[in-house]
Amino acid sequence: MNTSTFNGLPTTIVIFGASGDLTQRKLMPSLFNLFRKRRTPKDVQIVGFGGTEFSDEQFRERLHTGIKEHAGYDFTEEEWNVFAPNLSYFHGKYGEVGDFTRLAEHLSQLENGGANRLFYMALPPTLFPVIIDNLGASGQLHENGAWRRVVLEKPFGTDLESATILNHQVHKALNENQIYRIDHYLGKETVQNILFTRFANTIFEPIWNRTYIDHVQITVAETVGLEHRAGFYDSVGVLRDMFQNHLLQLLTLVAMEPPASFSATHLRNEKVKVLSAIQPMTPEQVARHTVRAQYKGYRNEKQVNPASTTPTYAAMRLFVNNWRWKGVPFYLRSGKNLAEKLSQVIIQFKEPPLAMFPMQAMKPNMLVLYLQPDEGLHVRFEAKAPDTVAETRSVDMEFHYAEAFGQTAIPESYERLLLDTIQGDASLFTRADEVETAWALIDPILQTWETHQTPPLAVYRPGSWGPPEGYDLLARDGRRWLNEEASMMLDK
Ligand code: BG6
Repeated sequence: MNTSTFNGLPTTIVIFGASGDLTQRKLMPSLFNLFRKRRTPKDVQIVGFGGTEFSDEQFRERLHTGIKEHAGYDFTEEEWNVFAPNLSYFHGKYGEVGDFTRLAEHLSQLENGGANRLFYMALPPTLFPVIIDNLGASGQLHENGAWRRVVLEKPFGTDLESATILNHQVHKALNENQIYRIDHYLGKETVQNILFTRFANTIFEPIWNRTYIDHVQITVAETVGLEHRAGFYDSVGVLRDMFQNHLLQLLTLVAMEPPASFSATHLRNEKVKVLSAIQPMTPEQVARHTVRAQYKGYRNEKQVNPASTTPTYAAMRLFVNNWRWKGVPFYLRSGKNLAEKLSQVIIQFKEPPLAMFPMQAMKPNMLVLYLQPDEGLHVRFEAKAPDTVAETRSVDMEFHYAEAFGQTAIPESYERLLLDTIQGDASLFTRADEVETAWALIDPILQTWETHQTPPLAVYRPGSWGPPEGYDLLARDGRRWLNEEASMMLDK
């Protein structure tokens, strides 16, 4: 890697919310791995900021334990001992501007000269404005030869109005190009590979349109329930937790036009165009084209309101109204406590226009992008069954990351995202207008669900593939969820 991308200055990373879960499980294992791979700037300082008191030594010990538990890669104690001196802790209150002035002095001493600073908000979004105000008031956001960047974790707002207000608040102190809004799905290799599949090849793009594609299915299914986040989840639900961000992001990557380049501006312009081409639903459309459901037993979970109507599963049908996609349904679905952990995009092609062969099964071709687990790509097509006159059989070609690149080839998504923030590449981060356009699609659904209670809240059995209503959504169009068929391709 070319170190000039770091403008030659040391870099300081300040993590707000340093004693939290995200820091332990994701941020530190990722930063450590980047350091081991020599991808961080040579002079990097990582400073944890938080309300709990820790000495530097206690903080390091805590992170060491967290990394051993969560890293998912092997490392030596020697490597840790080289990394650990770069870590330190600063005790302060998020609401106290005086603590931020002390922080500024502390960082200046630590840096001993000019340095870039990355401020990572690993805490609830209600704290973003106050921290950003205090960073501004203590003169820490001013770029003077060295850059200043802020990374904001999701959720970015809880609806369009709150997201717009939040954008307004952060723009008071920061330019958009200093802001990195995280959607960790964009850091996944396989999610980036959607664009590589489409635009680094010539064989897919000519048929990637309404002439050849019948419909698209995007599934992000989880086997986990609420884990330790029940209280938070109950106030959020699946639409805010998964659709406004991850599922709509996947949709933009599948549906977008080829960007003029892979620069952050060009890429995000195209994504916004896709979202803008989706018509926000009317209440009647919400009633007909969305499904909301809760798994059985959800209301008995600790910290969940016993009368809660928070959905843990949703499915919907969307249309992208442009020349490429007019009339092609995109079916999106996500839920907790489902049968399988599976994130996949299925492109179902149209049936051949004519059955030429007498025993031809009219099976349409299918392209499946396996985002996780068993990351890869499969193509189903028809072949002549040997020793028959004219029978056809479905066969598939498979690409598995693990086979092609080795078992450990796929890094944690936060590694890539953290590296990009250090390098100033915002392509994999959501822009202000993108977040707002996504909320503008989700808001009418939330409002219809929450104020009119339509469609009725369905119930599903934990460990199933969701409620019958989820199947009806496609059955009404003469279609069905294809994941089980696709899994059979995988099992073979
Ligand atoms: C998070 C959601 O953004 O994504 C969680 O808040 C969800 O509820 C998680 O479990 C899923 O991420 P992944 O990477 O495990 O698919």
